Amino acid sequence: MGSVRVTPGESSPSLGQAGELVAPSAIRGPSAAQIPLRIEADRGHPLHEQISEQIRLLITEGKLRPGSYVPSSRQLADQLGVSRNTVLLAFSRLASEGYIEAAKGSHTFVSHGYANSWPLHGYAAKSSAPTKPIRRPPILFRGEPQQLVHPGRKPIFDFFVGRPCPHCFPRRIWRRLLLKRLASAGSALSEYPHPAGLLELRHAVADHLGTARGMNVRAAQILIVNGIQEALNIIARLFVRPGTPVAIEDPCYRGALSTFESYGAEMIPVPVDKDGVRVDHLPERALSFVYVTPSHQFPTGETLPAGRRIELLNWAARVGAYVVEDDYDSDFRFDGPPLTALAGLDSSASVIYLGTFSKSIGAGLRIGYLAVPVELAEMAIAIKAILNAGQSWLDQAVLADFISSGSFARHLNHVRSVYRSRRDCLLDALREHFGKVDVSGHQGGMHVMWHLPGSLPTAATVQATALNHGVGVYSLRSAVGFDFSQTPYSTRSLVLGYPALTEEQIREGIARVARALM
Ligand SMILES: Cc1ncc(COP(=O)(O)O)c(C=O)c1O
Repeated sequence: MGSVRVTPGESSPSLGQAGELVAPSAIRGPSAAQIPLRIEADRGHPLHEQISEQIRLLITEGKLRPGSYVPSSRQLADQLGVSRNTVLLAFSRLASEGYIEAAKGSHTFVSHGYANSWPLHGYAAKSSAPTKPIRRPPILFRGEPQQLVHPGRKPIFDFFVGRPCPHCFPRRIWRRLLLKRLASAGSALSEYPHPAGLLELRHAVADHLGTARGMNVRAAQILIVNGIQEALNIIARLFVRPGTPVAIEDPCYRGALSTFESYGAEMIPVPVDKDGVRVDHLPERALSFVYVTPSHQFPTGETLPAGRRIELLNWAARVGAYVVEDDYDSDFRFDGPPLTALAGLDSSASVIYLGTFSKSIGAGLRIGYLAVPVELAEMAIAIKAILNAGQSWLDQAVLADFISSGSFARHLNHVRSVYRSRRDCLLDALREHFGKVDVSGHQGGMHVMWHLPGSLPTAATVQATALNHGVGVYSLRSAVGFDFSQTPYSTRSLVLGYPALTEEQIREGIARVARALM
């Protein structure tokens, strides 16, 4: 280990408030801020030793990690109100012990030689172990997260659900709008945004829902949320306490189920058939709400026909329940005109509508929207404020411009045609290798469900075999779906998402599955 070199031009990380405790993660990296040292001049203990002891402790406790930058001697001297020589003395001691070192002409940093002894749980590490076991409060959270990030190593050809085409993201126009908004942001980035969302965006979403989904909704009823996932949490906070009955499709979207269960809901499964949710199986009693995916049932992909839509709305008005309509991928309808949303048919203010830009633009944006009946708006906004005080202003502003300039509509037309071709390609590939195939959900959305012929093994076996050949195809439960009891959907059906794969990849992926199963 070399000794610490301090050069006059030593570049310096910015300083925070003196004596402030800095979270371990914030200490890492070239922008290292102040480190939490406290020295006492009247302790009768040499100052350089107080400094070296405390830095040593930060390193051994894992709070200053190997490779992390230590503030320059000049900064530290300023921070602590001591002479620079005192700090240099402390540094030189630490360097000779191998705790810190200096890169040529650059910062001083925690030695990499320390990496092996860096504690795994640095935050929790204490210098002395407690003598008596500590009794902690019980963890009340119950829930299993939805697995939207691909589990494990990605296969070469991955038909995982819910992934838009990565090359379709409107990068060029997004960049232009982003820079324009950044240049004229004023105080918008330093102030808290309105918890309900940017008014311009709420207006743009309300207009879009009018044209695209036949809904008559005002901006005051729209909340901009962190994806549908947050909207589900807001709804659960509105209505669910431990033991609250909530009806849900069976099979259903795992993210919705997990959310409601985590608030203690008693789930009432309502079966799904080839026309979507069986409305005649809904209980004839007061319920807070039923959660449904009428445009493209998740995961079967079926569309709820007009007759059942009316029955569902009549049921809701009769028993006084809300219908939570998750319209996650309805921007993509390939065959026939777009459907009117349930919320567009609703004349008794029974529908709470959820939409997202995760599928139409990109899931990484984390922007969705919630349209609520007027009487729920104030409460829903209060919950959003409690949850996270609103969405990022910049992203909302760019999105508002993207929609109101007409770019969103053009983008959707383009992406729709790309996805339609990929859907056709997938169906052709399945037919080419497996003959007549039984597929549902192909009329729209971003995935299809393939009901396996009797000649093929179970969904789980096909999934495992395909994976061994570099292809990801997914059984209902591994595709963010859930069913309450084993049905042919769980054992004999596969969910195939296709927009993220090129046509060539789709053809090769399905060909590999066919070869693997021979
Ligand atoms: C039915 C359904 N709802 C909601 C979502 C997630 O939406 P968001 O990304 O807006 O949270 C998904 C994701 O695949 C989904 O399948």
